[in-house]
Amino acid sequence: MDMSMPSAGFKSALFPDSGISDRSRIQSLMEDMFRHAQEHGSVLDDGISCLSQVLYLMYLARARKASSIAEIGFNIGYSSIAFLESSPQAKVTSFEINTEASVKAAKEFIDSRYPDRHHLIYGDSTQTVPAFQVPRSTDGFDLIFIDGGHDYSCVKADITNARRLAKPGATLVVDDLTPWFKWGIGPATAWEEAVRDEVVTPLEYMSDALAVSRIQGPAERAWAVGQYW
Ligand SMILES: C[S@@+](CC[C@H](N)C(=O)[O-])C[C@H]1O[C@@H](n2cnc3c(N)ncnc32)[C@H](O)[C@@H]1O
Repeated sequence: MDMSMPSAGFKSALFPDSGISDRSRIQSLMEDMFRHAQEHGSVLDDGISCLSQVLYLMYLARARKASSIAEIGFNIGYSSIAFLESSPQAKVTSFEINTEASVKAAKEFIDSRYPDRHHLIYGDSTQTVPAFQVPRSTDGFDLIFIDGGHDYSCVKADITNARRLAKPGATLVVDDLTPWFKWGIGPATAWEEAVRDEVVTPLEYMSDALAVSRIQGPAERAWAVGQYW
């Protein structure tokens, strides 16, 4: 697979001056959220973002001035925290198939901390995203984060279907471009096809919290930022 970086002129969201105080604040928020979800729910049955990714997503949303944000894959809401912390104006819509107690507890935590700024839509994203009506007050989402089902067909559908909800030129982030792991094959293949088919222009590749010109193993985590055509 070729996941190399053709584009220039993109300013990475990494490492702004304020990074150190953000780090401890976001870490303690994530810990609070984790405790809350554990106290109210069962064990996690899917992956969650790590601190460096949450910080990255927060800075990215801020750098891209994204106030209307969608994510596919909420789990216990770490990426939602990233986006809601990016600016007091940011509003987030999450699509999530899992209705277990841990997810509901995380939603409760988010609502108590960020009232009226988060909307959670339960169901399979391959159905809920195409059925979603963009509110009349906006002309679509500024930023879309795809981190739901990791099967190729699901990621492919999510990238395609989310485009209809995106503002022209919206930012797209696809997580887990790690084809050396089983769960990374679907996202990596779907991303590569989206680039090949000119659905998205790559802006930045991240591997273990470093900007890289090409994604290649081994790395624990890797994700891509792009712009919808
Ligand atoms: C990796 S987790 C998301 C992590 C989260 N974004 C974070 O930052 O911590 C993936 C989530 O996608 C959800 N999911 C899986 N398939 C889905 C589907 N078809 N539609 C909606 N959500 C799905 C899972 O239930 C799980 O909560």
